[in-house]
Amino acid sequence: MSKKVVIIGSNGLLGQTLVNKLYKHPDYNLYAMASGENRNSEVKELNYFEIDIADFKTIKLQLNLISPDFIINALAMTNVDTCEVDKKICDAVNVDFVKKLAVTSNEIGTHLIHISTDFIFDGVDGMYSENDTPYPINYYGLSKLKSEKAIQKNRTDYTILRTILVYGKVANMKRSNIVLWVKKSLENKEPIRVVNDQYRMPTFVGSLADACLLVMKKKAKGVFHISDKELLSIYDIALQIADFYNLPTSLITSIASSEFKQKAKRPPNTGFNLTKAIDRLGFKPLYFVEGLAQLQLDSQGNIND
Ligand SMILES: NC(=O)c1ccc[n+]([C@@H]2O[C@H](COP(=O)([O-])OP(=O)(O)OC[C@H]3O[C@@H](n4cnc5c(N)ncnc54)[C@H](OP(=O)(O)O)[C@@H]3O)[C@@H](O)[C@H]2O)c1
Repeated sequence: MSKKVVIIGSNGLLGQTLVNKLYKHPDYNLYAMASGENRNSEVKELNYFEIDIADFKTIKLQLNLISPDFIINALAMTNVDTCEVDKKICDAVNVDFVKKLAVTSNEIGTHLIHISTDFIFDGVDGMYSENDTPYPINYYGLSKLKSEKAIQKNRTDYTILRTILVYGKVANMKRSNIVLWVKKSLENKEPIRVVNDQYRMPTFVGSLADACLLVMKKKAKGVFHISDKELLSIYDIALQIADFYNLPTSLITSIASSEFKQKAKRPPNTGFNLTKAIDRLGFKPLYFVEGLAQLQLDSQGNIND
């Protein structure tokens, strides 16, 4: 029998990618929730609910009626600098809402899948595994760590997938990402300055969505590190993007983080040990260039299964 899954935050990058993968999937009955109208123009017939996270009573009522097997929470305040400035809103979205979701999931017997971040770590000793000690150095990271704790405290069946620097493309996006930003800037012949002393494992959104599907298939619980498999400086990421799209690398200037003023601090060196996800979920991380190739395929409208 097909399982019922609710995607919360279905208009975002991960949310839309999940909808695209699940709406025709024979094993799942899909429901989607987000604020405003459904912005996923690729999917016409969707069980879509417009939500206001300040009105949790209504969300709870809808969740009770659906009684899903899985809830995937892809909703979050993801702009790291905005979180640093608007701490109250950040707490409301990234912590309080997740706390309520966890309590409700527990009450209705639903498996909650939540997405967290490499920014819960300070980035001093990269290649983190799931049992390394978190130490966030900005408010976004702190809020996501609090969201993890809220879920763990509420005893629901849960899976927390921590991920890193996610990129991809979906319809009517409100936020850009590293690949789209570098590509667009270079196409417009705009010079860009990119930091050379922060290291990440960039993650194609399709890889992250696939990990969510593996979690549901295997009913895997606990914390998993999910990213693609190459650790690169942000500068090297930009160079590879330029190479991939045949754009001029001469427009990219390498700078140190100290030359780049941002409201929130960034951890210098994250990166994940992926052994647990590979062994227990069968997760298949990509090389960065493979992720770029997948993105190009998806952007041409060929949605991968
Ligand atoms: N992107 C990354 O590099 C990255 C890295 C590590 C972890 N993550 C985690 O991955 C998950 C998915 O992120 P993503 O990349 O898909 O981000 P995204 O595209 O920014 O999606 C987040 C969604 O949350 C929604 N949202 C934010 N505040 C809201 C509010 N007050 N009420 C209703 N909806 C609200 C946004 O709605 P609107 O679109 O309408 O604004 C957006 O659709 C998040 O938990 C994020 O923390 C992301």
